[in-house]
This record gives sequence, structure tokens and C-alpha cells, in this order.
Amino acid sequence: MPVVRGRAIRVLYDAETIAARNRAIADEIAKAGYHDLLVISILKGSFVFAADLIRALHEAGLAPEVEFISLSSYGAGTQSSGAVRVVKDIESDVEGRDVLLIDDILESGRTLAFARNLMVERGARRVGVAVLLDKTGKRETPVEADHVGFDCPDYFVVGYGMDVAHAFRELPFVGVVED
Ligand code: IMP
Ligand code: MG
Repeated sequence: MPVVRGRAIRVLYDAETIAARNRAIADEIAKAGYHDLLVISILKGSFVFAADLIRALHEAGLAPEVEFISLSSYGAGTQSSGAVRVVKDIESDVEGRDVLLIDDILESGRTLAFARNLMVERGARRVGVAVLLDKTGKRETPVEADHVGFDCPDYFVVGYGMDVAHAFRELPFVGVVED
């Protein structure tokens, strides 16, 4: 088991497994018929997944524009209060555009429901959702992803952009911090 910061990390999805899934998701997205695609990476957790997925999209023959939006839940602590706010917005006008939101994890669904509604309100023609991990058992708001890397068991995971208090984002795999 890799040890990082003195903690053993149990690997759930290794780098090769993730890379293979990224290629498959990119092929799926290429076949989904998005027109003049604008990809929006939801920061911070999705930055590594998005960086790999957009390059897989290039290999799959797409030439998307890429933007970033930083979203945050109100309130302190690890429990989300439920309200989501825009910390840093995209610069593009999405009216009439096909948008693909990229996030790391779909859990309660609040973050992606907020982001999707925001793009629909702004007049996007089509809003797709791609996530690396789907914790299907944790949904509180009805929202589904169109493109999913892995159905993930209900562990708190780190790595590949995902963090505990901003640590462990650099890991090239997704894992669970052991006690
Ligand atoms: P949702 O709004 O409950 O769907 O929250 C999804 C967001 O919470 C993700 O984009 C992550 O940033 C964060 N999150 C949820 N589960 C985990 C986890 O296991 N590890 C790290 N971040 C997580
Ligand atoms: Mg996130």
C-alpha cells in the first residue's frame, strides 16, 4: 500500500484503470452528438480528471472549448449545508451552446443540480454531465450523470484531484485513507 503523509492509502482505482475509463468516456462523449462543445470543469476537485479527459477528447476527435467554474457549499465543516454558491464564474456566454459539465464525484447531487440549473437558466441548448465517480446511494437531489467513470462505494476517497483539507490531490490514483 502506498504511504503518503505517514498514512496508508488503499488504492481503489489505479492510474491505468482510470486512463482506460477516460478513453472509453471520451469515445462515448464523441458519439453523443454534442455540437460546438463547451466543457466546464467544476473546481477544485475535477481539475485532474478534466485535464486528462479533455486530452482523451482530443484523441477521440473532438475540439472542445474549456472553461472553469469554482463552486462551494456555504458553511464550515465537512457537512455541506445544502446551498451552493459560485466562487468564480465562467467567462463564456452559454446561450444556445452545448455544455458538458465535468465533476469529480456525484454524491448528494446538490453541486451538479445547481450547476446544471445555472446553465439551463442561462439558455444553454444542451447540458451534459460527466463525472469520474458516482456514489449512487447518496443522492438527495435528483440529478444523474450522462457519462460515468465508476460507480463508487460509499467511502471518502482522495487522490486524482480529490482532497482532505487540500491534501492528497497529487496522487495519480483514487484511494481511501486507512485508519
Ligand atoms: P454533492 O454536491 O454532494 O454531489 O457533492 C459532490 C462534491 O463533494 C464533489 O464534487 C466533491 O468535491 C465532494 N466530495 C464528495 N465526496 C467526496 C469524497 O469522497 N472525497 C472528496 N471529495 C468528495
Ligand atoms: Mg467538487
